Amino acid sequence: MDATFALFAAGGVALATLTPKLLLRLDLSRAKHRSLAGHPRLARRVASLVPYYEYDDERFFDADGVPEEIVARRRAGFVRLSDVYRSRYAETAELTAEIEGGLSDLQFTGAYRVPFQFRRHVREHLRAGSFLCTSSGATVTDLDGNRFYDLSGSYGLNVFGYDFYKECIRRGSELVADLGPVLGAYHPVVAYNVERLRAISGLDEVSFHMSGTEAVMQAVRLARYHTGRSYLVRFCGAYHGWWGDVQPGVGNPVPAHHTFTLRDMDERSLRVLRRRRDIACVLVNPLQGLHPNANAPSDSALVDSARRAHFDREAYTEWLRRLRAICTERGIALIFDEVFVGFRLAPGGAQEYFGVRADMVTYGKTLGGGLPVGVVCGRRDLMKRYRDDRPADVCFARGTFNAHPYVMGAMHEFLRQLETPAIRALYDGLDERWNARVAALNARLRAEGLPVQVENLSSIWTTRYTQPSRYNWMLQYYLRAEGLALSWVGTGRFIFRIDFSDADFAAVADRFVAGAVAMRRDGWWWADPRATNRSIRRRVLREMIATRG
Ligand SMILES: Cc1ncc(COP(=O)(O)O)c(C=O)c1O
Repeated sequence: MDATFALFAAGGVALATLTPKLLLRLDLSRAKHRSLAGHPRLARRVASLVPYYEYDDERFFDADGVPEEIVARRRAGFVRLSDVYRSRYAETAELTAEIEGGLSDLQFTGAYRVPFQFRRHVREHLRAGSFLCTSSGATVTDLDGNRFYDLSGSYGLNVFGYDFYKECIRRGSELVADLGPVLGAYHPVVAYNVERLRAISGLDEVSFHMSGTEAVMQAVRLARYHTGRSYLVRFCGAYHGWWGDVQPGVGNPVPAHHTFTLRDMDERSLRVLRRRRDIACVLVNPLQGLHPNANAPSDSALVDSARRAHFDREAYTEWLRRLRAICTERGIALIFDEVFVGFRLAPGGAQEYFGVRADMVTYGKTLGGGLPVGVVCGRRDLMKRYRDDRPADVCFARGTFNAHPYVMGAMHEFLRQLETPAIRALYDGLDERWNARVAALNARLRAEGLPVQVENLSSIWTTRYTQPSRYNWMLQYYLRAEGLALSWVGTGRFIFRIDFSDADFAAVADRFVAGAVAMRRDGWWWADPRATNRSIRRRVLREMIATRG
C-alpha cells in the first residue's frame, strides 16, 4: 500500500514538473507551419535525399506527357528562342562562359534559375550572360548593346533609379575626398547621418555595419545580451540574410539550435510568445506580408503552379499590432528587418507604413546611396554593448569597414535627398499607383486568356500562375527576349524603382504580355485538363524515387 502510494506520488510530482514543459513543447509544435519551410530540420533532411537527374532531349519538351503536335511546337519555339539568344547576346554570353569556372557566385546563381531537371538544356541553349555595362533611366545595357528595362531592382537597392545613386556616390565621394579611406575616426557627415536615422526610425541610437546580414546579426546579438534569453523567433519563409541563426534550414550545413521558426500571421505563434520565457527577440521581414509562410519565390522552385501570393495591408497591420503588444508584455525585443522594404514603402520605412513601432530596426540596401551598408537603429537600453556595473561583460561588435567615409558620404546624400520635396512627392499615392498598374496588367492578361497574374506589395511584384504547368519557369526567358531584365530568381520577384514613369510602365506591360503570348504560342502552357498541381508533384516524386532506385 505504502509502496503504491509512493509510486503514485512520485508519478504525480514528475507529471507536475513535466507538464508545463510538455505543454510548451506542444505549443511550439502547433506553431510550426505544416510546410517544409516551417520545419527547417526536416527540410534539410529532405533536401539531402533529392537526387539529381536531368531530362534528355526528349523529356525536356515532354515532361508533362503532351501530344506529339505540342512537343513539335515546343521544339520549334525553343529553337527560335535559342537562335535569338545566340545572336543577340553573343558577347555577353561569351564573357560569362569564360569566367564562370572561376566565379563561384556566378556558378551558384546560374545553376538555380530553373528546376534542376531542365537545367543543363537551358544552360546550353539559352545563355543570356551576366554582364551589363551601363544603366540609364529605367534601363540597363549589356555588352552587345541590348537595352533592357530593369526589373531586378538590384536586389531591392534601386528605389529611386540608378542615376539617383550615381549622383549620391559622386557627391558623397566629393564630400569625403579629402579624408579618403581613413577608418576608425569618423568623417563629419556621420553626425548628419546619425541624426537623420534617429529621426526617421524614432529610435535612440544607431550602429553602422557592412551588410544587411551583419546588421541582423548585431540586432539579434544585442537582444540576447540584454534579455539574457537565447531564442530568436523568425517567421516561416522569411529571409533575413545568410547568417546561420536566421537560416536554420536548407542552405545552412549545421542546425540553428536557438532559432524558432513559427507560423506567420497565426494565433498559435502568439501563444508561444506569450508563454515561453526564453525568447529574446522576434524578427519581422515585412516583405512576408506579400507571401506569408512562404520562402522568397524563385523560379528554380517552379515545379508546378502552386506559388501563391497576396498582400492584405489591413490584416498584416493588425498582425504587427498584436505582435507589438505581446512583445511589450513579455519583454521581447521586436526587430523590424527593413533591409529590403525600408524607404521603399514610405520615407519612414515599414514602421511608418504600418503605423507600428519596433524596438530595433535594421536597414541596408538603398540606404547606402548605392554603396554596401547595414544599419541597426534601436532603443538605448538595447543598443548598449557593455554594462556599467559589470565592466568585463561586453557584447562585442566591431568591423573594419563600419562607417567607411565613402559609404557615409553616399548615405549622407541619400538621406539629404530623402528630405527634398521632389523625392517626398514620389511617395504620394504610391500604393494606389502601383495597385492600379497591377490591376490593369492583370486585366490585360485575363482578357488575353493567359494563365499568369501578378501580385504586389507596392512596387515589389511576384508572378503567380493560374493553371497547372511544369513550364512556368520558361516565362523568364521569353520576358528577357522582350527586353525585360530579371534577377536570377526569375519571375518570382520584379522590383521596380518607385518613380517608374507611366510611359516606361506601359512599355513593360506591353513586353510582358508579348512574352507571355509568345510562350503560349510555343505550346509551353498546353495543359492536360486532368492535370493538377498535386498530380504534377506526384509525377516528379515518382521520377525521384525511380532515380534513387
Ligand atoms: C530582409 C533582409 N534582411 C537581410 C538581408 C541581407 O542583406 P545583405 O544581402 O546586405 O547581407 C536581406 C537581403 O536580401 C533582406 O532582404
